[in-house]
Amino acid sequence: PGDVASFAASRISDVVARVAASGKRAVLGVATGSSPLGTYRALAELVSRGHLDTTGVSAFALDEYVGLDYAHPESYHSVVTRTVTEPLALDPRRVHVPDGLADDLPAACSRYEEQIRAAGGIDVQLLGIGANGHIGFNEPTSSLNSRTRLKTLAKRTRDDNARFFDSPDQVPIHCLTQGLATILDARQALLVAQGVGKAEAIAAAVEGPVSAMCPASVLQLHSHATVVVDEAAASRLR
Ligand code: F6R
Repeated sequence: PGDVASFAASRISDVVARVAASGKRAVLGVATGSSPLGTYRALAELVSRGHLDTTGVSAFALDEYVGLDYAHPESYHSVVTRTVTEPLALDPRRVHVPDGLADDLPAACSRYEEQIRAAGGIDVQLLGIGANGHIGFNEPTSSLNSRTRLKTLAKRTRDDNARFFDSPDQVPIHCLTQGLATILDARQALLVAQGVGKAEAIAAAVEGPVSAMCPASVLQLHSHATVVVDEAAASRLR
């Protein structure tokens, strides 16, 4: 797991440095969940040692629950602040999370797409993968051409995420998520997975057919996608 995190962190750090060298500021796509936490810790370490300058860097989260107060510790607004914005010393005004509390959710989704475009697009999108093959909250059957939109969480995802809540019935039912086409627009994609629980999803994503039944398989269509796995997550690859 440490190797996964340090590989992903050095890849992201290289992108930030390369973009800065070209006179621009990097735009990061950030995932929540447990998979990328080591990567964020490794990046925070680089920042605190002065090896990574995040001045002007902006970030876009993949998704957010609908109807969950931003002050709730498990809202992705809170999670991103706690695990990304603060440790990486990002300017909070440059960190964006879909607005799951908007009165007009479809309008909030269009606005999010517009904000990503206005920022110049995402340079590197960090992703985790669900046990059912989802990326972002693009559950199986998501259109490969989808953009940011309102979705219903799969039962398996709500069960998997119940560990973050006091009781399973507190897990929200709906979410806003970047679509698969939004994710494919990122100039580089970096999927991290650890543990045997992800092995089947990784095998389907990497070696299976490109299919809406395994949304992560859409990354096979991306010209610069990297899958970073530990031995256990790789154990079902042929
Ligand atoms: C998080 C997200 C999800 C997670 C996935 C894996 O923003 O969009 O796709 O990456 O559910 O979650 P963990 O890493 O907790 O196993």
